[in-house]
Amino acid sequence: MDHAARVYNSVLDMLPSEENPSPMVRINKLNPLHAQGFQLFAKLEWLNPFGSVKDRAAWEMIRDLEERQQLGSAKPNRGIVEPTSGNTGLSLAAIAAVRGYPMRAVVPSKVPAEKRMLLKLMGADLDVTSDAMCPLPGAEDGTIGLARTYAKASPDRYAMPNQYENQANVRAHIRTTGPEIWRQTAGKITHLFTSLGTCGTVTGLSQFLKSKNPAIKVIAVQPSPGHDVPGIRNVSELDVSRLYDPKLIDEVIEVPFDRAYDRVLDLCRIEGLMAGPSSGLIFEGAHQVLSRSLANPTAPSNVPASSQAPTGLGVMIFCDSVLKYASSMLKHHPELVSNAENEA
Ligand SMILES: Cc1ncc(COP(=O)(O)O)c(C=O)c1O
Repeated sequence: MDHAARVYNSVLDMLPSEENPSPMVRINKLNPLHAQGFQLFAKLEWLNPFGSVKDRAAWEMIRDLEERQQLGSAKPNRGIVEPTSGNTGLSLAAIAAVRGYPMRAVVPSKVPAEKRMLLKLMGADLDVTSDAMCPLPGAEDGTIGLARTYAKASPDRYAMPNQYENQANVRAHIRTTGPEIWRQTAGKITHLFTSLGTCGTVTGLSQFLKSKNPAIKVIAVQPSPGHDVPGIRNVSELDVSRLYDPKLIDEVIEVPFDRAYDRVLDLCRIEGLMAGPSSGLIFEGAHQVLSRSLANPTAPSNVPASSQAPTGLGVMIFCDSVLKYASSMLKHHPELVSNAENEA
């Protein structure tokens, strides 16, 4: 494969790897420690072929099922069923389309209409359940319960990868995202900023990066309770994840969830980055952590604050782009439409 020429025989060849990493872009204007020499980068996961960080987990989980003969020629009529808040479903649906597998996505009711439409567009059958924002455990008629019911009732038709429990989700980041970041930063990364959803990203990345350098700080950013940021969770909502390991996380910082939507505007308008709400939230958390170290220097008090800030290199995982969230953006920033109408 020639990643320099970017000519491919299949869209699946575009999936990210150490040889074909998602881009990292430096934050130049919004980094509070830029002048102090601390570099802050965003890893742009929406430039993966199916639009999000979940391309990685979806590919790893499907290949795992194929290798264990749970999908493919050994099970000719079998497809996939998965509880999802959208992105994993989209990545699975796209890969399933290429491989020729049927796909059913079970999504919570508050998943933005854009994502539901995209799932159907990609050929997935869709069930919408009563769960609000993220798949909840337990409830039989909830997202996870319903997907399980399909898999149990019709094992010939459905394999359920279950991103919340599947170690392939973690492995995807040990195999791809971690080595990419290590190479892209020439081993200089000091801080990782990420979110908590299934926790595949934080667990896989922390395992890989700390094995390279145990001093790397892993910081998870969570939205305040009652949030409406699709794909991510507050720690109090993490019962569902078998992949969450608090020992691998140095700090969990909580930020008011509506800041996610303000930060999307900042990232778009100041850095030209079309980041989605979970990226906005991660950026807000990174900004608070870095600003805190400016305000709270650890060196002796007679040294000017500006020379006490940490030097280093931070990487934020920007999971997807704002393009799938028009309805969520309009809810938080209705002026985005009314202004346009006034101008028309
Ligand atoms: C938009 C978005 N951000 C963040 C995440 C969290 O990633 P992970 O599930 O690896 O914790 C997800 C997961 O679905 C997501 O869709």
